[in-house]
Amino acid sequence: MNVFINKNIPEAGIKLLQEKGINLTINPKENILSKEDFIKICQKNDALLSVGTQNLLDEDFFQQCPHLKGIALFSVGFDSVHIPSANSRKIPVGNTPDVLSRATSDVAFLLMQSVARKSFFNHKRILNNDWGSFDPLANLGQELYGKTLGVFGLGRIGFEMAQKCKAAFGMNIIYHNRSRKEDAEKELDAKLVDFETLLAESDVLSVHANYTIENNELFNKNAFAKMKSNSIFINTARGKFHNENDLFEALTNNIIWGAGLDVTNPEPMKSDNPLLSLSNCCVLPHIGSATYEARNGMAVCAAQNIIALFENKKMPYCVNE
Ligand code: DGY
Repeated sequence: MNVFINKNIPEAGIKLLQEKGINLTINPKENILSKEDFIKICQKNDALLSVGTQNLLDEDFFQQCPHLKGIALFSVGFDSVHIPSANSRKIPVGNTPDVLSRATSDVAFLLMQSVARKSFFNHKRILNNDWGSFDPLANLGQELYGKTLGVFGLGRIGFEMAQKCKAAFGMNIIYHNRSRKEDAEKELDAKLVDFETLLAESDVLSVHANYTIENNELFNKNAFAKMKSNSIFINTARGKFHNENDLFEALTNNIIWGAGLDVTNPEPMKSDNPLLSLSNCCVLPHIGSATYEARNGMAVCAAQNIIALFENKKMPYCVNE
C-alpha cells in the first residue's frame, strides 16, 4: 500500500508504518504544495495521512480522489474534511482522540490564568520599558477560587479542563452538551445547563466542542451580551466558534472581562490584528497539542488508522462509520 503524508510527523508513527512495509511518500516541510499538486500526489497513492490540510479535503478533492482507501487525520478535529463526500464514497476518515486531551486542556487552563492575571499584557509592559513603580491600583487581575467554569462541549478535553479547574481553584462546573455526562456529574458535581444559562452563569466560559457549521460563530455579539461583565471567554477548539469583530467589541466595551484564544478566526492571525493590542486578550498560535507526548501519541494513532486500512480492518479511531 502507498501512503502520502503531506507533512512529516514524529518518528513514532513513521516507524510503525515502515515496520508494516507500507510505502511512504513524505512531503518535505519546505515544499508548499498547491491544491492541484496535492491532489495529483493523492491520486497516485492508496491512502492519505493528512496533516493540517485546512480547506483541501473538500467536495472537489473527493470527486478527484474517489479511489482512496482512507484518510488518517493528524488531529482530533475533523472539520477540515467534507464528511458527506467521504461517506458517499465509503472512504473512512480517522482522527487522533484522547492523546491530546491533556495537552489541549493544559493550554485552556494556561490561557484562563493568563487572562485572569493579564500576564501577556504585563510581559509586554516590560518589553516596552513600562515597568514603572509599584502602583496599588494598576494591573489588577481576578482570582478564580470558587468561581463558575462553564464548559461548552464536555468531551474528553472539556472534562480534563473541568477536572483541573475543580482541583486547582475549587470551581463550580456547569456544562452544555448534546447529552448528559453522568461521569462528570458524579466526579465533578457538574451540572448540565441550557446554552442561555451557560452564558449567564459562567465566570469562565471555555469552548471544547467539535466544530460544525450549525455552531458557526455561535459566540457572537448576542452571546457576549448575555455573559457576565467579569467573565472570561476561552477558545482552544476552533476559531470559527467565535466572531472576531464581535469579540473585539465585547472586550473593548467591557461587555466581557477578557478572552484567551489558542485558535483564531481566520488562522493564522496577522500581527496587526487589533485583538493583539488589548490588555485583556491573550492569543496563542494553535499550540494546544504541541507537546512531545501529545504529538507522539497523535503520530501513533494516525499510523494505527493507516495500518488498519492496510490490514483491511476497521480504523480504530474512525469518525464516519
Ligand atoms: C486538533 O487535533 O484538532 C488540533 O486542533 C490540531 O489541529
